[in-house]
Amino acid sequence: MKIACIGAGYVGGPTMAMVALKCPDIEVVVVDINEERIKAWNSDKLPIYEPGLLEVVQEARGRNLFFSTDTKKHVGEADIIFVSVNTPTKTHGIGAGKAADLTYWEGAARLIASVSTSSKIVVEKSTVPVKTAEAIGKVLRRNCQDPNVNFEILSNPEFLAEGTAIEDLQHPDRVLIGGADTESGQKAIKTLAEVYAHWIPRERILTANLWSAELAKLTANAFLAQRISSINAISALCEATGADVSQVAHAIGTDSRIGPKFLNASVGFGGSCFQKDILNLCYVCETVGLKEVADYWYQVVSMNDYQKQRFVERVIGAMFNTVSQKKIAIYGFAFKKDTGDTRETPAIDVCKGLIRDGAKCCIYDPEVTPEQIFRDLSAPKFEWDRPNYSRSQSHMLENVQVQSDPIAAADGAHAICVLTEWDEFKKYDFAALYEKMVKPAFIFDGRNILDHAKLREIGFIVYALGKPL
Ligand code: NAD
Ligand code: UGA
Repeated sequence: MKIACIGAGYVGGPTMAMVALKCPDIEVVVVDINEERIKAWNSDKLPIYEPGLLEVVQEARGRNLFFSTDTKKHVGEADIIFVSVNTPTKTHGIGAGKAADLTYWEGAARLIASVSTSSKIVVEKSTVPVKTAEAIGKVLRRNCQDPNVNFEILSNPEFLAEGTAIEDLQHPDRVLIGGADTESGQKAIKTLAEVYAHWIPRERILTANLWSAELAKLTANAFLAQRISSINAISALCEATGADVSQVAHAIGTDSRIGPKFLNASVGFGGSCFQKDILNLCYVCETVGLKEVADYWYQVVSMNDYQKQRFVERVIGAMFNTVSQKKIAIYGFAFKKDTGDTRETPAIDVCKGLIRDGAKCCIYDPEVTPEQIFRDLSAPKFEWDRPNYSRSQSHMLENVQVQSDPIAAADGAHAICVLTEWDEFKKYDFAALYEKMVKPAFIFDGRNILDHAKLREIGFIVYALGKPL
């Protein structure tokens, strides 16, 4: 059997590496139009940072795992084609700012149709709106020249989280496969289930109809993000009342119906998917006339925006209502620890907010490159921001410095803002950092990972999320 995967990104790369590792009898080729990315996958400096990934790739690469830009050849030869291309939020046109942009998906489908001379199982790995399989089916069937070629479309959404991708792929809570309720649909489900059964217990391989599988992915992300927005909303109330959000989270998390995970208050959730997928869900609801349902889920995103803005306002308020010309050390720019990914990271909004008020941000992150930080802070949030783009871009960049040394980042700073929960931050010698900072020295812990009592003993003024001062 031969598998091809279109899209060598955060999902396609690690997922296919795991399939290849666990299924030595299957040839797996990951293809992408981005030559640089493919080159990096073929080197020892992989295009994404993910703990444990290099070892997995090194074991399978060259044996039954290959990365290539020859999309036509490998897609044409494959029996199963995973499509793992990006599905970002539309930035212009109808549905801009909400709907999923399926341009890349449609491009992939047209490519599959044009090179297929044998029947294929086409697997939706990307996160897509409900009913995408129907649209993709039309593109595939109406563009393929050979009437004997049959396309069976499956939905097999990916639930891995960045930073823990290898563990998530190795021991997933479940694998979900949705397919048509026809004989050939069920056969295709069985074929894909056999692949996963190489390493995943059968009871963890769930099957569903196509629309349920597509919707389950959007729903899972909406529920996860909703937990974060819920605890973040409570963190604001804690600050106003003297309650401690960690104690509240612990107390509710011990209720087995609620559970303890995903209750860490934060400066806001980031990542390429939560916001995008909720907006996508809202748009689907709106298009079928369910405005109230859309409004309900939209609040999860609004609360997240509020949390980021609230953080900025707290920093400025605490520092006597002015951060003008003050150096602020930013610890962490990635959207979570153990990844170099900055897509939708709350650090972008926080840094922009502080700089707009006159601050000078000095950013340190162990994995994010300076180029990436400058790119993120100079890009407009949305396409429609462009009229103000050039002016704000130069203003932003004049006030951003990136440091490869966390001590130098804090040197001469008035405050440290912790925006990513990197473990190394907990081990720093804060007494030494305190000596180098302007007094009063502030710490704003946007992840609640530091020892606040100890920091106060040193002399810092500490603001933690959802905790008494
Ligand atoms: P990504 O941007 O990292 O990777 C997508 C890749 O697809 C890019 O390298 C791009 O060049 C390639 N591509 C686009 N069109 C192509 C074409 N026609 N032919 C060949 N290559 C093409 O995106 P990602 O983070 O891997 O996400 C992919 C999908 O998976 C999205 O729908 C996302 O919502 C979903 N998802 C992501 C995660 C995550 O943790 N990042 C987790 C679960 C699901
Ligand atoms: C998330 C989901 O967890 C995955 O199941 C899903 O496959 C993926 O989105 C996707 O579809 O892309 P990911 O975004 O990689 O994975 O990382 P998470 O661990 O979910 O964290 C997302 C954001 O929420 C991060 O900014 C994180 O810091 C924040 N977070 C998480 C909190 O603020 N508090 C928490 O308690 C947990």
